[in-house]
Amino acid sequence: MNDAEFQSFIDEVTDRNDICDVISEYAHLKRVGNRFAALCPLHNDKKSPSLSVSPDKQLFHCFGCGAGGNVIHFIMAAEHLDFMDAVKLLADRAGIPVPEFKGGGSSSARSSTDKKQLIYTINKEAGRYFFKNLAGDTGGDGYLYLKNRGIKNSTIKMFGMGYAPEGWTNLIDYLKGKGFSEHEVYEAGLAKMRDNGTYYDSFYDGRIMIPIINVQGNIIGFGGRIITDKGNTGKYLNTPETLVFHKKENLFGLNFAKNDRSGTLLLMEGYMDVISLHQAGITNAVASLGTAFTEEQAKLVKRYGGKAVLCYDSDEAGKKATVRAGEILTAQNIKTRVLTVTDGKDPDEFVRKSGGDMFRVLIERAKPLFEYRIDELQKQYKIETEGADGIETSVFPDAEATVEFTEAAAALLAEIKNPVELEIYTKRVADESGVSVDSLKASVENIRFGVARAEERREQQLQRRRQAQAMSKVENVKLYNAERLLLNLMCDKPVYRLAADKGLKYDDFTVELHRKLAKAMFDMYDADGAVDLGRLLQVFDDEERRTVSGILLDDKNTQDKKAAAEQPLKIILGDRNLREQDKLLAEGNLDEVYRLMISRAAGKNKSKEN
Ligand code: UTP
Ligand code: MN
Repeated sequence: MNDAEFQSFIDEVTDRNDICDVISEYAHLKRVGNRFAALCPLHNDKKSPSLSVSPDKQLFHCFGCGAGGNVIHFIMAAEHLDFMDAVKLLADRAGIPVPEFKGGGSSSARSSTDKKQLIYTINKEAGRYFFKNLAGDTGGDGYLYLKNRGIKNSTIKMFGMGYAPEGWTNLIDYLKGKGFSEHEVYEAGLAKMRDNGTYYDSFYDGRIMIPIINVQGNIIGFGGRIITDKGNTGKYLNTPETLVFHKKENLFGLNFAKNDRSGTLLLMEGYMDVISLHQAGITNAVASLGTAFTEEQAKLVKRYGGKAVLCYDSDEAGKKATVRAGEILTAQNIKTRVLTVTDGKDPDEFVRKSGGDMFRVLIERAKPLFEYRIDELQKQYKIETEGADGIETSVFPDAEATVEFTEAAAALLAEIKNPVELEIYTKRVADESGVSVDSLKASVENIRFGVARAEERREQQLQRRRQAQAMSKVENVKLYNAERLLLNLMCDKPVYRLAADKGLKYDDFTVELHRKLAKAMFDMYDADGAVDLGRLLQVFDDEERRTVSGILLDDKNTQDKKAAAEQPLKIILGDRNLREQDKLLAEGNLDEVYRLMISRAAGKNKSKEN
């Protein structure tokens, strides 16, 4: 596939995926004049709809978070995909067959796709090497370690687990033998570089290697667990961030769990928990990759499960992590329950001791997130006492503890969006604390009001700061705005003609990004006689696109575009002429100054005659 074929494939994908149809799957679009408006699904847009979608231009721009572009850019942002994966998703959506990309594609998309492919290949070869080591002479210790932890051979095979023996260049040597360079191994994250430019294996101190595989089935990185307690390196080492390995955007085990039909994902703390559970036949377990649970991961849960059960360790750190992950999941409207491991430190230990069926009982018993959080609060404030009848009950020790509990519980209740849930939990807290439902409801309302006001203020401040920042960089606001407006209007061919007839050149624009946009437009009009805005945007990087999509969509609802263009054109050309004059004067070239003035006066008269 050559560049032209690639471009026409991209064009077909954008043509057959109407931007309004696609975005309406993520947000409720309301017609406003010549465009649609919506609460932006790409940021936490609560108040006024800041997303603008133009059916004519097939572009979107959010005047709140600044995201913008064509339908492909929208999918990249909404689904956290890179360019090619977003294109593939849209091609699937429209039923367009995806051609083979190897050696094809636009040069930038191609080189990044090829590089990724290379890293996948290196990772696969490394995985093979690690796996073979488990059976070989040096693998003895690694294999023993796994056997001691009750890992079956079939599990080792299914997860592709392996062993990286001690040594500085075992893997590098192996991969060099397979034709890869040290630097390529480094780019895959499997080698580190010393200050003097030499390389050594990332995993050099005897580790069980756990491949991390994405939903497409590619190894994107590895987690390595040390098998001895000597040394001062961490218990786990992970592949560093690479072109393909983004810890915050993947879940370990999702390649298997995505095929589970339960509609729920079990979120574990550790790799070994996931492996143990799958071995016990519980195939919807996944884990973060050595970082706290993220919003991106919550979106994956939404896409591949729908519901979540948090199965973190029951120590203090685990409880904190549970609350934090719960908040992130709730923000994505994901129904979340919390499972508490009763016997043993973590899920891995539990299943090994009690088996998969017992773990299923724990899943059944998992509490809804808010119930869990209220119970935890109570544990914090209540104490155990023995009544006269010798029965242990938990009570609040004094009125202060009751008040504190009620306040903390009200703050929790204020987060509950679902009115039925809110009703149920309000009643429960009232029962527990002896405070009336009405005064509890009043507290909740107070808190909500305060939170909403604070958020509003913060957003206003942010907006003001953004505007001030943008303005401070601009010396001549009038000229700046004229350039933006004219660029917008020039999407219309008659306006472009008018501007070109008046002698406007792309380098008459004074703001660098405006000049780049103008050049792209002029080039397209020259070559094709029309602008294709979707294509036009491909010239810009992510950051630039935020500004450019704003310029292209902010047309101030103009009806007569040619008339509207007169004013900004005059400002821009006037400014250019002044600059030219100044330059000539500085050079002492008076003749040329007069010549210019006369020819301009003639030009003016000519355009008046027309
Ligand atoms: P755990 O210490 O609970 O690990 O850390 P685990 O998976 O249960 O492993 P075992 O049972 O002790 O062998 C939970 C997760 O935190 C990350 C890893 O992703 C691990 O699976 N972690 C932990 C690191 O990235 N680095 C570390 O040094 C420790
Ligand atoms: Mn563990």
